[in-house]
Amino acid sequence: MNILVTGGLGYIGSHTIVKLLENNYNVICIDNLCNSNEDVIEKIKKITSKDFKFYYGDVNNKDLLTKIFKENKIDSVIHFAGLKAVGESVKYPLKYYKNNLNSTITLLEVMTEFNVNKIVFSSSATVYGKQEILPIKEDSTLHTTNPYGTTKLVNEMILKDETVANPNMSVVILRYFNPIGGHESGILKENPKDTPNNLMPYIIKVANKEYPYLHVYGNDYDTIDGTGVRDYIHVCDLATGHIKALEYMNNHQGIEYFNLGVGKGYSVLEIVKTFEKVNNVKIPYKIESRRPGDIASCYASTKKAEQLLGFKATKTLEDMCKDSYRTNND
Ligand code: NAD
Ligand code: WQD
Repeated sequence: MNILVTGGLGYIGSHTIVKLLENNYNVICIDNLCNSNEDVIEKIKKITSKDFKFYYGDVNNKDLLTKIFKENKIDSVIHFAGLKAVGESVKYPLKYYKNNLNSTITLLEVMTEFNVNKIVFSSSATVYGKQEILPIKEDSTLHTTNPYGTTKLVNEMILKDETVANPNMSVVILRYFNPIGGHESGILKENPKDTPNNLMPYIIKVANKEYPYLHVYGNDYDTIDGTGVRDYIHVCDLATGHIKALEYMNNHQGIEYFNLGVGKGYSVLEIVKTFEKVNNVKIPYKIESRRPGDIASCYASTKKAEQLLGFKATKTLEDMCKDSYRTNND
């Protein structure tokens, strides 16, 4: 089976390529390196002792996509490529709409041309906005609070409309909660190019003494200790979810939506304490005011993914904190 992975050199894509190669899929990857580095290719090869094809370029480039589909008989696509910084999307909405929407449209056009009907799409818990009822189920109402989130929601709509127009299509929408961690070898991990916005990459910078302390955004939420609660999932578990999605598409048509989370929430301070304990390192922090747009708590109902995909996350919070910080020499 030949799988085209867009954005495959990024954080989640690279861990998924490792899983794909380990499960004997052939991988063809396209990435424009706007948020990743080419050295990830060698890292993946080192972990798996397997090879895959890489095309440098943009998913918005129809000629390049056409060349890729001509040169390879693609069976399914996993579409990770996209910009993902919430704050940046508020500042530069058109950049986000242009990149994240045009890429999917171009990809779907070329897939149609080559009669490729199976696609897994990287969506996000961000499409649920603020929910009163937890855990969050897939059929909850959807609403977004920033342009990034809106690109995810509109992408879901585009894929749904395409599925209606073409009944042969099989689409799996995966709504990730909060991915953290890295490969257990320490070779592959999250490596943001700019100042991290997300909690775990920021904690790592503090652990490495690149930043003096962690800013904890609010301790007055209605949660266990007042700090924000999220559903953190190990990136290698998330990668397994994509293998399950590919298997699901082999005998299902139409569109289906799945949460990928652990089903349990942890607070910012629980993460800090666990990180300190398993890595034997101090994370100084200061409590600051709430970050605009943040919600108190968010965690997934994992039932649907368990029942229909046969997917259940296996890694613990300790694993996640350890594998986030692990170095190659461990
Ligand atoms: P990432 O930035 O590490 O990876 C995305 C990759 O896509 C990068 O390698 C980037 O260079 C590439 N890319 C972006 N636009 C491209 C384009 N037009 N053409 C070719 N390549 C392009 O991000 P990630 O954390 O691995 O996220 C992967 C996907 O999952 C994204 O769609 C993201 O929105 C979604 N997602 C991420 C999270 C998270 O917290 N990491 C949560 C929910 C959903
Ligand atoms: C987690 C918790 C913060 C940083 C975002 C996107 C979402 C998805 C995942 C892509 C919150 C607190 C954070 C810091 C802190 N991405 N925090 N200090 O906000 O749940 O989700 O990433 O789809 O769309 O919105 O994740 O890691 O930013 O924050 O106290 O320096 O950590 O307030 O409670 P979030 P996060």
